[in-house]
Amino acid sequence: MNLWRLDCGVQTLLVGGDKNLPEVFYWGKRLPETDDLREIWDSTRLDYSGGVLDGVPPLSICPEVSKTFAGYPGMRIRGTTGRRLQPNFRLADAKYTETSLILKFEDLKLGLAYSASFLAHKATNVFELSASLSADIEILVDWFAAPVLPATQTAQKMIDFSGHWCREFEKQETDWSIGARLRNNQTGRTGHEHFPGLIVPALNCDDTQGSAYAWHYGWSGGHSMIAEELPDGRRHIQFGHAFDSYPNPILHIETAPLFVSYSDQGLNGLSVNFQRHLRDKVITWTKGSLPRPIHYNCWEAIYFEHESNNLSEIMELAADIGAERFVLDDGWFGTRDDDTQSLGDWEIDPRKYPEGLGPLIAKVNQFGMSFGIWFEPEMVNLNSKLYVKHPNWVLGTIDQILGRNQLVLDMANPGVQEYLFEKISAILGDHNVTYIKWDHNRVLPHVDAAQTYGTYELMSRLRDKFPNVEIESCASGGGRIDFGILKYSQRVWLSDTNDAHERLRIQHQASNFLPMAVTGSHVGPRECHTSGRIHNIKFRAWVAAQRLMGFEMDPRELTPEELSSLKKITQWWKDNRIWRHDADIHRLKVADISITAEIQISRNQEKFVVFVGIAETSKWSCPIPIQLTGLKPDYIYDVTLLNHHEKTTASRGGSVFDKGKISVSGQYLMSNGIILPSQFPDRMWVLEGTQ
Ligand code: DGJ
Repeated sequence: MNLWRLDCGVQTLLVGGDKNLPEVFYWGKRLPETDDLREIWDSTRLDYSGGVLDGVPPLSICPEVSKTFAGYPGMRIRGTTGRRLQPNFRLADAKYTETSLILKFEDLKLGLAYSASFLAHKATNVFELSASLSADIEILVDWFAAPVLPATQTAQKMIDFSGHWCREFEKQETDWSIGARLRNNQTGRTGHEHFPGLIVPALNCDDTQGSAYAWHYGWSGGHSMIAEELPDGRRHIQFGHAFDSYPNPILHIETAPLFVSYSDQGLNGLSVNFQRHLRDKVITWTKGSLPRPIHYNCWEAIYFEHESNNLSEIMELAADIGAERFVLDDGWFGTRDDDTQSLGDWEIDPRKYPEGLGPLIAKVNQFGMSFGIWFEPEMVNLNSKLYVKHPNWVLGTIDQILGRNQLVLDMANPGVQEYLFEKISAILGDHNVTYIKWDHNRVLPHVDAAQTYGTYELMSRLRDKFPNVEIESCASGGGRIDFGILKYSQRVWLSDTNDAHERLRIQHQASNFLPMAVTGSHVGPRECHTSGRIHNIKFRAWVAAQRLMGFEMDPRELTPEELSSLKKITQWWKDNRIWRHDADIHRLKVADISITAEIQISRNQEKFVVFVGIAETSKWSCPIPIQLTGLKPDYIYDVTLLNHHEKTTASRGGSVFDKGKISVSGQYLMSNGIILPSQFPDRMWVLEGTQ
């Protein structure tokens, strides 16, 4: 009998079995060192009754049909003749350290080797799991799961995230019941629709308390997830590349890393683990990406109309407000006057830039800003020189429906890879560029893992050649956000909606996985281009200031008052960006559903900022206390209402903050909470606290 134990922060994972594929027979709150693993193994064995098999089929790390497992199997593979293969693996090797367990198994009859890896990232309280499969002769792979973990039987619900353009990170809660919940993303990219994550909260768990378990599959090519409750009551979770990601016979496959974490501090505990892990372990920061710069992006100001005088005026104003990086969005190449043409023709448009981009960049630099540029490398328009020259570089059939008038290039084709590498390198090599906004504005015609590996390869080559160039992952807003793409990029464009009301909610939910340091958020035009809503500048600016602040409106529309407010909030953001880079975001549990609030706390818990977004009119006529979380109970904090001057006629009585700061304990702030002045909807209160 082999029994292995991995500890990671507050959690313990126990893996055990004999010669067969092992089971994760415990995953949860850290166990005492003194616990005897054999006793635990024995006590997790199940009884069974009538009408079932004479034994309980193992729920292994890759549940096997060969062991009479009748739930969803961990792999579905076939020989090239189409014959189903039912492997029966035996242990071949085990390597075990305090932070890792790597197991190798063989099925000599079928000529298959399976490997599973468990890594404990103790500093971030995250386990990283992966699996691989090698075959002596080519096989067809329909499904292959990363190591399968059990899900707690104490949970009533599971939580995952869906959405669409301008409505990312829509939280979904599903009741557990016998049978499987399948999320099968066949779009070929991470997608707005299927964020690759799952949270299973134990009973009575919420944002701030209780036990919770989470999974995130770090893959940008579309995933499948199976969350199954077996008729015997056991539950298991499978994540892998989407079904049918391997259209061709293959000798070797690997899953993406599956990041899993347990928290005894509610969903916020999981959020903190993922936020820290992404920021501190997954991302490679570039020289210019720290401290995080304030962006100005010209997309919603000029769209495809690049005109040098306009750009000069805009960049001067943007720099004056506080922008530190100027991003030239879509429209600078080919004859890209609208979205029907030129994708693929990555040469500077001589009509718009007769002397190239040099003079524009020089001006950007003169205003003290660095320069960033937009690409959408994986795409081509029918109306482009590239398509005319290489119609066979396109992925998918002739009958496919276009997406935003464009087709997808076959990233597995070495010719495509080389072409894009040369074209992008030429722009980066000839100019002082510090940043690429890397867009991906349509789904693939079919799912294919090779496409994603091709994109990773191209990004990796460019990162090697231009290590100081930061990359932002954008896909019509938040269509490609995952820890896979973030191995090669440093920022995500969370959504195309700059509507502060919408963004407040999207940012709130995205904090389940994303830290402030990667999450772009821009102050949009007064009248939002994607919703038609009009919001005052302060609300727009504070919502952007919650994350990586930037501007995207035409700054010439700003009134002197708006300009002044925006400058002040931008300066506040800059003054606080260093400690906030490492801060943890906790969502606040507020009984008043009209409020969306969060606290960002410094790592030493000595500083915090609370953002209280008033999303609608409350059902109560007086404000109710807002309880903070994550503070040191015995610290005395000085708390100020930073934007007290934004009080409106909604507040007719008084507030304790009228007198300035209050000094109270962390315990009081967490037990009773703070009472803020009444406020109109679509406003933000911002509190600062210092020990
Ligand atoms: C979609 C992106 O999400 C926008 O921000 C912008 O870059 C456009 N593409 C440009 O075509």
